[in-house]
Amino acid sequence: MLEVRRVGKSLGAEILGVNPAVPLTSFEIEKIEQAFVDHLVLRFRDAPMSVVQLRDFGVQFGPLRQHIAKSYRNHEVPEVVVMTNQDAQGNFDAVGAGRGVGWHSDGTFEALPPKATVLHAVAVPDRGGNTIFANMYMAYESMPAKLKERIENMNAIFRLRGRKQKTQGIVTAEDLKKMTDVTHPVCRVHPVSAKKSIFVNPHHTLCMADVADEESEALLEEIFAWCTREEFQWEQEWRAADTVMWENRSAWHTGRLDYPQDQLRHFFRTTICERDGDGILPH
Ligand SMILES: [Fe+2]
Repeated sequence: MLEVRRVGKSLGAEILGVNPAVPLTSFEIEKIEQAFVDHLVLRFRDAPMSVVQLRDFGVQFGPLRQHIAKSYRNHEVPEVVVMTNQDAQGNFDAVGAGRGVGWHSDGTFEALPPKATVLHAVAVPDRGGNTIFANMYMAYESMPAKLKERIENMNAIFRLRGRKQKTQGIVTAEDLKKMTDVTHPVCRVHPVSAKKSIFVNPHHTLCMADVADEESEALLEEIFAWCTREEFQWEQEWRAADTVMWENRSAWHTGRLDYPQDQLRHFFRTTICERDGDGILPH
């Protein structure tokens, strides 16, 4: 029987009594969708999955989006990308290992940001390499009134790698040229929960809209300093065969590069979009 067990103070729940590697019932999908809205991050344990099984799991929650970094796509299942810290020769790959390190939400540089990302652990180091998640509803709701009022109705410009202007070599220069900047509200209403959260993030926000550069930088720094408070966070300690599904519309995440570099850290990942009728917001 499906059970939802909260694991983090600020967010996160474990789903028990369900095998994510096999097709779910409509009842299970409904319960998991509700748990996803309530807890923002869901964990399934002890269920090894192939790339095909991960794709089949993800697509039950919405259409899948192919990742912009073509070189990491799985050849047979292009909706799944590999996240690994080793190159083809088995040596530590700093670019691969650095992906996902630094606070962000996936795909927020796109006009329609994805609903969820699902990561499945194939191999994990024996210590370190956790993923930290942060609840951006809480960050918004508890924000000091003066800052909240200032940013409440502001917009921001988003671009892949935002202010850092680096892509770490994962996206081709040609694909990068095709991407255009997008605008989203700084405090965005979630299309399902209808609650507001902080939507800007340190990796993919270029600047605040309609203010001078200096003011934009100062505001973003102030927002990010607030949003990175520990009270909003929960840390996933990975075990092989874990599958974690997280919110990109109301939560931030970051990886940790604190594990022994001679150990393999290998994941499969897929990205889920909003279904038609999920109430996608105009931007
Ligand atoms: Fe990410």
